[in-house]
Amino acid sequence: MIPLTLAELAAAVDGRLVGADGTATVTGTAEYDSRKIGPGGLFVAFVGAKVDGHDYAARAVEAGAVAVLGTREVPGVPMIVVADPLTAIAALARVSVRRLPDLTVVGVTGSSGKTSTKDLIGQLLARVGPTVSPPGSLNNELGHPHTVLRAGLQTRFLVLEKGARGPGHISYLCGIAPPTVGVVVNVGVAHIGEFGSVEGIAAAKGELVEALPADGLAVLNADDPLVRAMASRTSARVVLVGEAADADVRAEDVTLDERGRAAYTLVTPDGRYPVRLGLSGRHQVGNSLAAAAVARAAGLPDAELAAALGELRLVSTRRMDVFDRPDGVTVVDDSYNANPASTSAALRALAAMGKDRRTVAVLGFMAELGEQERSGHEQVGRLVAELQVDRLYVVGGSAAPIHEAATADQRWGGESVLVADQEAAVGRLRDELRAGDVVLVKGSRYQTWDVVDALRVTGGAPA
Ligand SMILES: Nc1ncnc2c1ncn2[C@@H]1O[C@H](COP(=O)(O)OP(=O)(O)O)[C@@H](O)[C@H]1O
Ligand SMILES: [Mg+2]
Repeated sequence: MIPLTLAELAAAVDGRLVGADGTATVTGTAEYDSRKIGPGGLFVAFVGAKVDGHDYAARAVEAGAVAVLGTREVPGVPMIVVADPLTAIAALARVSVRRLPDLTVVGVTGSSGKTSTKDLIGQLLARVGPTVSPPGSLNNELGHPHTVLRAGLQTRFLVLEKGARGPGHISYLCGIAPPTVGVVVNVGVAHIGEFGSVEGIAAAKGELVEALPADGLAVLNADDPLVRAMASRTSARVVLVGEAADADVRAEDVTLDERGRAAYTLVTPDGRYPVRLGLSGRHQVGNSLAAAAVARAAGLPDAELAAALGELRLVSTRRMDVFDRPDGVTVVDDSYNANPASTSAALRALAAMGKDRRTVAVLGFMAELGEQERSGHEQVGRLVAELQVDRLYVVGGSAAPIHEAATADQRWGGESVLVADQEAAVGRLRDELRAGDVVLVKGSRYQTWDVVDALRVTGGAPA
């Protein structure tokens, strides 16, 4: 964050200084985990269900915190006392970012692929100037301002993931750090339980492009009709990306290699360039095009851009992380999260990788599908059959419709096993995997993490 005195800080968050010197200056980062505090930092004390941050206030000061922002006084600790730390951290982020007029703020939203695309944008922009784009999924009312506060006087680009669990959420986040570039990756059924319909999700995701100024840039997925339609909801310049013939930044002649990595011809208004991605999954084509459009706008020349696309790497864990075990088994760890669209993308990558190999899919429950829970799981089961995945392990009774739909599908020559839990899946896999297999592991958060962690340790280190 920008250096602020405690007096300025207290004014920004409408807080009361207690036992603190108003002229002392915060020069470090704002953290709510006391272990992350360094010299010159600000510790934000939240009261959670299990942990009360105020209990760590003294420790944070010992670690270098100039002050602690919290809801009550702590004896001997320089405090800024506020009514609500979440509102305060948002206010602080707002003030901080307003004092960085040369900063370009990029917002990324979508139903699947926000984190992946944010990571690609961050890597490309880092070639143009100092960029803040931390790994992981810091997309909510806490992670978002926390990320914003990492931008300092040197920062030129701030890349922010914006998640929505309901209408108004993205508008709220855009109010904290107003973006001038907005990227919408796709609209799917993630969190449909909270929104009621796909149209409701589109309405909420579109809040990002509505927040853009007239001299801003909206990067929209031309291949997703609901995203393309958002062009009418923004006054910013629109750049369409995708495989559609009218996309401004386009991929042609997409092929996948034996590791599911795409090669394509990048077509921009200025030329055609060969691109070979190092990331697995066809869905990375669209993600990389979105990142390319942002980088072009930031001034990265096309020829350099095409080479840079080939050097993109995974930044956040458990997303299409492909590794080879010493026993000849290849594992695709896409276990971070799952919905029907991202599972489809992952299964297609598995099929591409398994052309001459036995394919195994380990699939767990997909959460937050609301009324589409059953149909979403069945859809995935049918796709397993259609793609002729050789072996399917469905983990847990709640995911059983995947197993049922796959088994019932007449097209399928493979075999499905429904296992009770992750431990059972690990046991079966240990017995049945053999050299040459490619194994995809995927499910909603935590549903298959133990499986993939076991596959890592029993098989050795990632390649
Ligand atoms: N464009 C995309 N379309 C479909 N699935 C995708 C896309 N990009 C990434 N994914 C997959 O979706 C899952 C979640 O990816 P992530 O980047 O964490 O998205 P989010 O931040 O939106 O939750 C991962 O399994 C990832 O491989
Ligand atoms: Mg995310």
